[in-house]
Amino acid sequence: MSTPAPGLNEVLQRTFAFPKPHFLSVTDLNEVEVANLLDLAESFVALNRQTSKKLDLLAGRTLMNLFFENSTRTQSSFELAGKRLGADVVNMSPRSSSIAKGETLIDTAVTLNAMQPDLLVVRHASSGAASLLSQKVTCSVVNAGDGQHEHPTQALLDALSMRRACGRIAGLKVAICGDIAHSRVARSNIAMLQMLGAEVRLVGPPTLMPSQVDRWNVAVHHDMRKGIAGCDVVMMLRLQLERMDGVMAPSQREYFRFWGLDREKLAHAAPNVKVMHPGPMNRGVEIDSDVADDLTVSLIQDQVEMGVAARMAVLATLAARLDNER
Ligand code: CP
Repeated sequence: MSTPAPGLNEVLQRTFAFPKPHFLSVTDLNEVEVANLLDLAESFVALNRQTSKKLDLLAGRTLMNLFFENSTRTQSSFELAGKRLGADVVNMSPRSSSIAKGETLIDTAVTLNAMQPDLLVVRHASSGAASLLSQKVTCSVVNAGDGQHEHPTQALLDALSMRRACGRIAGLKVAICGDIAHSRVARSNIAMLQMLGAEVRLVGPPTLMPSQVDRWNVAVHHDMRKGIAGCDVVMMLRLQLERMDGVMAPSQREYFRFWGLDREKLAHAAPNVKVMHPGPMNRGVEIDSDVADDLTVSLIQDQVEMGVAARMAVLATLAARLDNER
């Protein structure tokens, strides 16, 4: 095991137990609990930048990744997070499992649960899937994205990236732009950013706004330049064509003209604006490469890095809760 990074020992002594047995939604946390998780994640950032990155907080624990939808960032960062904390990590691929033979979601989860994992990280195309599984298993379930509903660890890593780049979250003006209707990232971010005191605006075409957006207590803009005017953070979302039933957006070229983030539109935001995108990006559709790759404004690679630290904080605190239950 490595020597903990400066300050890590102190934080680890303060590692608290997660408030609930599962992490299914941003609403499982309150403002203080989010701040504690961000502080813990911050110390894992330092650890992850060391040559030796291993701790034994999860030694003896088993983490199973069960991803029914494709993932690059979330799955690999949960795997790294588990391994860096000393857990045994198993990645279950539905394509090569008995799901391909027709085994149901619940039977799959109950079967895996019989192998006594401690933590089950689930991504599924159906809203509510992680919550449903949490009622069928005895281990802790983490929602790694359920349909259009929530992606709570994405909101946590986004908050960490924003806090590091801007020094605070309270009072920031944050524009979330693009395909809001199909975005679990938007839903989790709105809940977390409002909890932490940011002003959230939604920007996009009417066809890509949720039908009940007027109940969300956020300003909605259908003009990109006006929507991002004066914003400290512009968070772009992927156009999720795979979730669209019919034609909800114009051609990709036309979409980019009206809703794609380029230098000209970005000039309407605050002078020190930061640009975010959860990935994967459609370059030239919702964001111009010139903006995405400019490290003076783009936090996109920071978001990926913060994903490992934020997920380590979630796993460590869920494991601390399991330890307390012994
Ligand atoms: N942001 C995100 O969830 O990315 P992946 O789909 O690659 O996990």
